[in-house]
Amino acid sequence: MTRNLDTYYRDHWAEVESDRMERYQAMFQWRDSHEVLIAPADIDIAQVVADYGCGPGALSIELARRVGESGKVFALDINREFLEQTQMLAEREGFAQRLEAKLMADDRIPTADRSLDRVVCKNVLEYVPDPEVTIREFHRVLKPGGIAHVIDSDWGAIVLEPLGERFTRIMSAASVAFRTPLIGRKLYGLFRQAGFQDIRVQVLAGADTTGGMRAVLRNMASYARVSGQLEEAELEAFVADVDRAVDEQTYLALLPQFLVTGHA
Ligand SMILES: C[S@@+](CC[C@H](N)C(=O)[O-])C[C@H]1O[C@@H](n2cnc3c(N)ncnc32)[C@H](O)[C@@H]1O
Repeated sequence: MTRNLDTYYRDHWAEVESDRMERYQAMFQWRDSHEVLIAPADIDIAQVVADYGCGPGALSIELARRVGESGKVFALDINREFLEQTQMLAEREGFAQRLEAKLMADDRIPTADRSLDRVVCKNVLEYVPDPEVTIREFHRVLKPGGIAHVIDSDWGAIVLEPLGERFTRIMSAASVAFRTPLIGRKLYGLFRQAGFQDIRVQVLAGADTTGGMRAVLRNMASYARVSGQLEEAELEAFVADVDRAVDEQTYLALLPQFLVTGHA
């Protein structure tokens, strides 16, 4: 298949191939450990909230639970299948009235100025065409005093032992899948430029010693494959050696999450 590497950062989300879609069903579940990630968003009954880049919808459903019957969640994404999955989940939970899944056609959030109480955005901004424009959009759609809460990785801060040096080559090739791979460290400045007040930054990093991040690492190998920069044998050996390190209990991975919260 011929791919345009200049737009791959977006295209690989607009159309997700089936094996990756299966991994996402498992990866993007709501877990109790996510509580700490969204706590700064201060979600409450009756709020109007956008989940920007909702994926298969687990976080949107959790937000819908928290805003209650009198609240509203807009689940926004560029992938139609994710939006359908999110809407189906909402129906299954009895939340159809309070959740609306909307396709993002471009950078503009399809809602009026000063209309939302919260914008929550988890692991999305490294893929948008221009994070400065998107964070200004968050500011535009929030009511005065409303909160934007972004949770994101910084792919330059990932640690993987004992495969560190080899992983650097994989990540370098995999960066074709990101628009802004170092987004985590840039968020604070971008929030400031967009006019947010009372900005808080936290960085959380739990060590994975059991292989929980293997699906993420497999995705990095598949992105690196698309770049055409590395031989297939190197990619296969990398995936096999991660599995071996987990079995031999020498594996340790860290992917710090930057949590940035600001008031409009
Ligand atoms: C890593 S997933 C995160 C999904 C979800 N937020 C979560 O944490 O479970 C990234 C999501 O961002 C979406 N996305 C990518 N580019 C986007 C854009 N320009 N606007 C809105 N969503 C986008 C993708 O389709 C995908 O659902």
